[in-house]
Amino acid sequence: MKAVDVKDLAKVIGEKIIVDRVSFSVEEGELFGLLGSNGSGKTTTFNMLSGVLKPSSGEVEIFGRNIRKNKEFVKDIGMVTQNDSFYETLTVNENLEFFASQHKVSREDAKKRIRELLSQTNLTTKSGALAATLSGGMKKRLNLACSLVHDPKILFLDEPTVGLDPLVRKEIWKLIKQLQTNKKTIIITSHYMEEIETLCKKVAIMFRGRIVANGTPASLKKKYKLQQMEDVFAHLVKR
Ligand SMILES: Nc1ncnc2c1ncn2[C@@H]1O[C@H](COP(=O)(O)OP(=O)(O)O)[C@@H](O)[C@H]1O
Ligand SMILES: [Mg+2]
Repeated sequence: MKAVDVKDLAKVIGEKIIVDRVSFSVEEGELFGLLGSNGSGKTTTFNMLSGVLKPSSGEVEIFGRNIRKNKEFVKDIGMVTQNDSFYETLTVNENLEFFASQHKVSREDAKKRIRELLSQTNLTTKSGALAATLSGGMKKRLNLACSLVHDPKILFLDEPTVGLDPLVRKEIWKLIKQLQTNKKTIIITSHYMEEIETLCKKVAIMFRGRIVANGTPASLKKKYKLQQMEDVFAHLVKR
């Protein structure tokens, strides 16, 4: 079954076409990557998929439900934004409780879920610590955990490792892979080629608001007769 189905999605702001008739679909359980340099329209696309931003045209279906007509999809998605969305002045546990209440998770379910998430993100010993005191990697893991408290089927990750050192980046990659093994559908944006190639089975390359290529990294290399995804990317964004 298709988890996400996007057809001719567009966003025009003023005179500027920010997202230009983007179409792609993601199967349930797939890890899908949207690769593009800064300003190519990835975040704007994500904001339309999560219902934060109204599309100028086009349609989005989440598990077969059109998000314009049916708001039920909200419980199926978790969104991890580029900037951390937790509160620095709350403890790790308080943050998770806050996000659980926002999503109307019952107290009992929240307790169990938070315990699982703390263990999964390796933050159990930090549950009483103020978020402000966490290291960069821990903050990223907390941010992820906050978006997972309602156990969404689909997770959107917008540039999850930007600005992180290589070790912390690998730690986050491991966590993302673990989540996928637990049957989540994950869509990730990145401008790091290596990140997309390491994590994603399928990738769409975005350039100036448009998807200029879509497929498995192997199929794209074959199609353009190039050895490296880096070269495929360079070839596509030169046009
Ligand atoms: N509200 C807005 N008004 C005008 N321009 C915008 C707005 N939001 C985004 N943009 C522009 O649209 C382009 C794509 O932005 P964005 O979706 O954030 O790209 P990415 O996430 O790939 O870096 C950028 O050039 C950005 O400056
Ligand atoms: Mg962005």
